[in-house]
Amino acid sequence: MAEQVSLLPKHTRIGFIGYGNIVVPLVSGWLRTKSVRPDQIMGSCLTESTAARIRDKHGIEMTLKTNDLVEACNIVFVAVKPHLVQSVVESIPNWNASRHLVVSLAACVTLSSYSYILPEGTRVIRLALNTGSGVLACASAMAVGVNVLPIESSLIQGLMNSVGTCLPVEEKHIDTVSSVCGCGIAYMFLVAEALADGGLEAGLKKDVVIKLAAQTLIAAGKNILEYQDTHVSKLKDNVCSPGGITIKGLHSLERNGVRNAFLDAVEIGVKTHAEYAHKFEVKK
Ligand SMILES: NC(=O)c1ccc[n+]([C@@H]2O[C@H](COP(=O)([O-])OP(=O)(O)OC[C@H]3O[C@@H](n4cnc5c(N)ncnc54)[C@H](OP(=O)(O)O)[C@@H]3O)[C@@H](O)[C@H]2O)c1
Repeated sequence: MAEQVSLLPKHTRIGFIGYGNIVVPLVSGWLRTKSVRPDQIMGSCLTESTAARIRDKHGIEMTLKTNDLVEACNIVFVAVKPHLVQSVVESIPNWNASRHLVVSLAACVTLSSYSYILPEGTRVIRLALNTGSGVLACASAMAVGVNVLPIESSLIQGLMNSVGTCLPVEEKHIDTVSSVCGCGIAYMFLVAEALADGGLEAGLKKDVVIKLAAQTLIAAGKNILEYQDTHVSKLKDNVCSPGGITIKGLHSLERNGVRNAFLDAVEIGVKTHAEYAHKFEVKK
């Protein structure tokens, strides 16, 4: 990916309320592509140990006072755990509906809930993403709330595209995106590990075979993305000779229910997101 000059307009500063496992790779990706400069980012967290670690890692301003972050930034990402969103957001007195664009990374917290915990008219975008951002391969999708200006949604989409791919979706699909991409990256780690273990069992060294398994996952993903006119089942058929070894392996995977296992994993992800969304819903 080509290096970029900061995508942020002058005087725009991004703040992260919460700076944990999902934010670290995202900001690493932005800094790597120079989409955003360190002085254009600020973070808040609960503990001084996290603040010190992030100052050291990303060279950005960190604070334990979230009010200070909301004062200093006009784009504010909410990146605390979903059950904390309401109390953290409601504890901040200095929200300003005309100044702030809020981007929520929190799974299961709806745009409707934000309308009750933020001042009336605050513009909110929900973003579902995975940790691929740090290696510029993030899969993400965003649902844009009412009143968000096209220039604002384009900016957020551009920032996410600078570290991978970001697609617009309706809010009703955001939790499905989380299940496929946010959770899916863990499933792909499992696939890589399982493939590698197969190679290990057959006598290859683990450090060699895990690299080959990872490169194989990259090859599959790149083929799907670069040959979008070709159906994925055709890409699969292309590597199966009649009566050959690969089709026998695929048969074995199907016999062991691998396709159903992934369908079940996404289904349970979607159901669990819906349960949590119900639990965390803010109503007035
Ligand atoms: N991890 C993922 O793959 C992923 C993917 C998609 C979406 N998400 C969403 O991203 C959000 C964060 O998840 P995560 O995995 O990054 O969580 P995490 O690693 O536990 O990080 C949470 C962060 O929130 C901070 N925090 C806690 N209470 C706070 C408060 N009162 N004020 C300010 N900061 C506070 C913590 O500070 P300390 O470090 O100082 O304790 C920590 O930096 C969640 O809502 C999750 O649904 C995560």
